[in-house]
Amino acid sequence: MANKEKVTYVSAGDMNFSFAAFANTPFYRKINTDLVELSQVHPGQRVVDLACGTGGVTKIILERLRGAKESLVIGVDLSTFALKQARAEISSAKDAMVQFVQGRAEHLSQVIREKVDAVVFCNAIHLVPDKEQLSGEVFSTLRSGGVFAFNTSFYEGGHPPETEQWYRRWMFRSVRILRSEYGLSPVKAEKVEARQHLTVEQYTDLLKERGFQIKEQRVNTIQVPLEGWVLISQFEDWITGVLPGVPLKEASNSLQKAATQLFEEMKVNFIPRNWLEIVAVRP
Ligand SMILES: C[S@@+](CC[C@H](N)C(=O)[O-])C[C@H]1O[C@@H](n2cnc3c(N)ncnc32)[C@H](O)[C@@H]1O
Repeated sequence: MANKEKVTYVSAGDMNFSFAAFANTPFYRKINTDLVELSQVHPGQRVVDLACGTGGVTKIILERLRGAKESLVIGVDLSTFALKQARAEISSAKDAMVQFVQGRAEHLSQVIREKVDAVVFCNAIHLVPDKEQLSGEVFSTLRSGGVFAFNTSFYEGGHPPETEQWYRRWMFRSVRILRSEYGLSPVKAEKVEARQHLTVEQYTDLLKERGFQIKEQRVNTIQVPLEGWVLISQFEDWITGVLPGVPLKEASNSLQKAATQLFEEMKVNFIPRNWLEIVAVRP
């Protein structure tokens, strides 16, 4: 069945290349809600939302902690720009307290001085190069019995094999549009080494070696609609990852146009993608 859903682009002039538009899509909220539920955080707890970005996951955690005055959510992110947006989005949380702190995941124990009940880390673990240091920092930030929950679709297995063709065609078409409409080409040498794809086993070994016990481990297959591909094409980190060395506006427009054309041509409504979800406990 052809894709009838109309996707409205934000005009390039109005884009700020932040994560906010993508973060608020219903399918993406559901992915993170699933992980927060799996983590079993509950009212009265102190929870770190690590790499909180523009606050989408912070809101989901707050909804779960509602009703207890002692609850505290601490959003940590290295981007002051994202934190500013998160503060603006979450200005009216009444039941639980929220704090936002700028800091690096790899230095978490210096940012969070008192032990916490849980660290929730959505869609960013693949961005941290030194994952051993990261797991050590999370371990020492948690109380005994505390929970570390993370998800990522950038792991070995994130792309179901039948979708490889989609990625190839999308990139090929985007580069063609970039050339024909803007006279630009991506600069291969500048390809960022941001996305380290570990296997599930490498992730679980890493955690076990640090002393964590794996409590939950599962793969969540998500049907990502055109809206998801269009909105992720407006996020700076994604754009520079797939089309490095090109001005953001032109690269974003090419990715969005290519995705829209291909959904129409391939007569699909969704492209599936896997999210790895792991919940580990500090004994
Ligand atoms: C894709 S967004 C995810 C935001 C949010 N957790 C979510 O799932 O919607 C990735 C975020 O990770 C942050 N980030 C990247 N590396 C980081 C690091 N080493 N320490 C803390 N935050 C980091 C970025 O600034 C960005 O806000």
